[in-house]
Amino acid sequence: MCLIASYFFLQSLLWTYNQQFKETIPLLRSDSKFEPRFVKGWRFFRDATSVLHAGYTKYPSKAWRFLRADTDLLVLPSKYVEELRSLPHSIASPTLAHAYNLSGSNTNMNIILKSNLHFRALQERLTPNLNKLAQPMQEELRYAMDLELPKREEWTPIKPYHTILRLVARVSARIFLGVPLCRDEKWLEISTEFTENTFITLVVLRLFPRYLHSLLGWFLPSAWRSTSYVRQAKRLLVPEIKRRQAATAKSETPDSNTDTLLSWMMEIARKEERNPKDLAHLEVVISLASIHTSQMNAVHILYDLAEYPQYLEPLREEIETVIAEDGTWDTWDKNSYYKLKKLDSFMRESQRRNPPTLLSYHRIMQSDFVLEDGTLLKKGTHITMAVNEIQNDKSVTPDPESFDPFRYYRLRQEDGHNHLHQFATTEPNILNFGHGKYACPGRFFAALEIKTILVRLIMDYDWKLPDGQGRPENLMAHEFIFPNQDGILHMKARKL
Ligand code: HEM
Repeated sequence: MCLIASYFFLQSLLWTYNQQFKETIPLLRSDSKFEPRFVKGWRFFRDATSVLHAGYTKYPSKAWRFLRADTDLLVLPSKYVEELRSLPHSIASPTLAHAYNLSGSNTNMNIILKSNLHFRALQERLTPNLNKLAQPMQEELRYAMDLELPKREEWTPIKPYHTILRLVARVSARIFLGVPLCRDEKWLEISTEFTENTFITLVVLRLFPRYLHSLLGWFLPSAWRSTSYVRQAKRLLVPEIKRRQAATAKSETPDSNTDTLLSWMMEIARKEERNPKDLAHLEVVISLASIHTSQMNAVHILYDLAEYPQYLEPLREEIETVIAEDGTWDTWDKNSYYKLKKLDSFMRESQRRNPPTLLSYHRIMQSDFVLEDGTLLKKGTHITMAVNEIQNDKSVTPDPESFDPFRYYRLRQEDGHNHLHQFATTEPNILNFGHGKYACPGRFFAALEIKTILVRLIMDYDWKLPDGQGRPENLMAHEFIFPNQDGILHMKARKL
């Protein structure tokens, strides 16, 4: 007992020494070296906005450090994005940083260290085939809306967080797995609940030093549940994966599910990536990366539309214009959605005001690297960028306090800017999807999926906040921002 206590005591001393005293890059002054780490962790958990705002204000164009309970982070200004964007994994690894951030060994996310098949399948197959996917997405959405949304012509309260989650989960599953698995209640539960439990686990663990995580993970019901969901996913998906593998081996066309992410992953998998259990596990990872991120974005947009209802009509007029050109959305392809530039601008502005996280562009240095100005990024350092501070800097977004949903639409009217400033476009100062070689590989799919859902919600329903109430307040934990899960909106089917 005494030996174990001494071990943990020595570990904590070593940890404190290494992380607090051995660095040369400035530590945020409010971050006293003598404040216990759990207090720092708690402060960041409660009010990451202030910590990051203080750092960015003091060091807008210099590297600085702040301490969390579980690690310390080196925050870089965006002037380094271009230098970092193409560095290989062997120098600056985003994957290692994601696994670390998601507390990989306690949340079953370390599989991303074994294979990047999901990343390649999104980049090489799903995104180039988006045009083919508009129709099945549309079809699944029709099916999902019939099941999940009230059709009453009088005002009806709903909790959009939950309703939109179901819509996104169903539409995503159609593209990731195909029919009939996409309608399997067990899969819908796995693909949404795994993420919720993973986030509970990592939000809790981050309040404690890293060396305690494995031990604490044993006692967290959310960690047990994540493991159980991975097991259930394997039980559910492995028979289907084996069926598709057998059909391919016999050179039979499996069926209409050829154009699904699962089949594309199987097609491009290297020999060592063909294990059905690993493929099933990666489908769970993709659900984590895609469903809540897109759902939260869509919920923020609905809350913003309810707060600023004057924008509903201009958005409807734009949709009507595309209907006049291309027919109803039942026949739309990717290009029809591309024409919705006001909607796209609204989505980007809503994301600027409600980003999923205040910190992004995470990398763990795999070897020492010296930036052009001589700043040394030491092996093992966790680097990141304060993306929300950067995008709300007045030099990047004029008048950042005001909600101006058509600001990007106007920018796109300028000569040569038509293809820029889109929801899925990344820039060195707009990093909600990252930037460069390792930027989010699902962002074009996310844009199409969110638009597909919003077009129907905007055209089929009227929306408003409950009388006398403002926009449901966002919730924060560490650097993460969540739309309010209990927020209520009133909806009413439109008479068309
Ligand atoms: C609004 C929705 C979304 C947001 C804001 C978002 C944001 C991000 C960000 C910031 C990254 C890290 C980029 C970096 O390392 O610099 C990322 C990575 C990733 N995203 Fe997205 N994403 C969204 C939707 C999606 C969707 C729909 C998919 C899948 C269809 C997806 C799949 C991924 C994957 C596979 C990774 C890489 C994870 C790894 O390294 O294994 N994302 N995303």
